Amino acid sequence: MIMRKNANFHPGRVFSDTKWILPFFASMLVSVTLILVTLFWPLSSPNGGDQLPFDIISFSRSEDSSGYFVESDIRRSLEVKGDSNMEAPRLAYLISGTKGDSQRMMRTLQAVYHPRNQYILHLDLEAPPRERLDLTMSVKAEPTFREVENVRVMAQSNLVTYKGPTMIACTLQAIAILLKESLEWDWFLNLSASDYPLVTQDDLLHVFSNLSRTLNFIEHTKITGWKLNQRAKPIVIDPGLHLSKKSDIFWTTQRRSLPTSFKLFTGSAWVMLTRSFVEYCILGWDNLPRTILMYYTNFISSPEGYFHTVICNTEEFRNTAISHDLHYIAWDNPPKQHPLSLTIKDYDKMVKSGAPFARKFAKDDPVLDKIDKELLGRINRFAPGAWCVGNSDGGADPCSVRGNDSIFRSGPGAERLQEQTQKLLSEEYQSNQCS
Ligand SMILES: *[C@@H]1O[C@H](CO)[C@@H](O)[C@H](O)[C@H]1NC(C)=O
Ligand SMILES: *[C@@H]1O[C@H](CO)[C@@H](O)[C@H](O)[C@H]1NC(C)=O
Ligand SMILES: *[C@@H]1O[C@H](CO)[C@@H](O)[C@H](O)[C@H]1NC(C)=O
Repeated sequence: MIMRKNANFHPGRVFSDTKWILPFFASMLVSVTLILVTLFWPLSSPNGGDQLPFDIISFSRSEDSSGYFVESDIRRSLEVKGDSNMEAPRLAYLISGTKGDSQRMMRTLQAVYHPRNQYILHLDLEAPPRERLDLTMSVKAEPTFREVENVRVMAQSNLVTYKGPTMIACTLQAIAILLKESLEWDWFLNLSASDYPLVTQDDLLHVFSNLSRTLNFIEHTKITGWKLNQRAKPIVIDPGLHLSKKSDIFWTTQRRSLPTSFKLFTGSAWVMLTRSFVEYCILGWDNLPRTILMYYTNFISSPEGYFHTVICNTEEFRNTAISHDLHYIAWDNPPKQHPLSLTIKDYDKMVKSGAPFARKFAKDDPVLDKIDKELLGRINRFAPGAWCVGNSDGGADPCSVRGNDSIFRSGPGAERLQEQTQKLLSEEYQSNQCS
């Protein structure tokens, strides 16, 4: 609002102290009220007192309070998580893209498709309506998606600023839809149109069948030293929040001091998070996820910090954070802002890394065909798995007939991934969690 009124934007004046202190205190007031409500609400709730499974999870944050949390639905879902370990896991994917990405999104979707999983596609507001329609049509035209009903295109399209909070807002919205639409998945993953898998879903699901469903894969480090000045003190404004055209983030001349009630963490924006952790972020029952979301509204590169800061400041989840993003990403030396595009010459390193995903790839780069052929066995639509039980004679598509989707055929990809996850779960790796 302020922005639009002041057409020739004057950082010094627009963001004078009084202008931002007022909303700041207003939001403080709201937060405090919410915290108080959360604290005292259970006292008046009739079925609050008995049999709260505090040993399973207690969402108190200060040392003295003893579990004021009585959201029975959430509790139930957490309990179920504990003993559902017998069944093979299910994943929920968000695949996002912008103008011109719809074909790449379809290709990535087909390469990571498995009937057990859930998929949601988001094409941002910069893409023309025509392209969104085309994407929706290609999803609708796919008979397997129609039968299994596990692929959705997000109807509401958001303006998303790379590095801005609108990216997180969009991710959270996709998670909220996935939570509402499907009760079954175990992990949420976020991919872009320029990501591609290096193992089949059978490999991934097979290896993850054997992992604790409480582990969050989120590369993170604490922000310390000079980085605090660069990362935590600037105040930025994401134009995606109040304009309808995509543009870069605004920097204000004001600086802010460091938060005192939580520590800041940063890391990769690519994550694989458990259902219980993202449920906590969406419902925000102890209000911390909301407080941190508000804090990150004006933070530079918030997608590289939001989930990281929430998880590391929450007692119940801190020990579940494995510092890896499960991607192979190549950076310039010294690293520039964007990662390098991967080509044939990166193929061996990519495979050796044992990572299940890699980025970023140019549209239709020949290395994608090599990955399809040698790693995924993808000839027709999907990278086939044990669920594809049709005839494959003469190049026919075996996935046109669906078999039991909880049987997996694991190949060399599973071995690579197994080795990699073993490393990640080693004590050495876990010893520096959230530090
Ligand atoms: C999710 O994935 C996109 C890729 O499209 C990435 O840019 C974004 O920052 C990721 N993370 C979050 C928290 O939104
Ligand atoms: C499952 O995990 C156990 C112990 O971590 C390991 O010994 C076993 O080989 C794993 N099985 C598979 C199929 O990965
Ligand atoms: C699918 O396979 C699993 C594991 O082998 C088995 O427990 C289940 O009963 C099978 N489901 C059907 C419908 O055949």
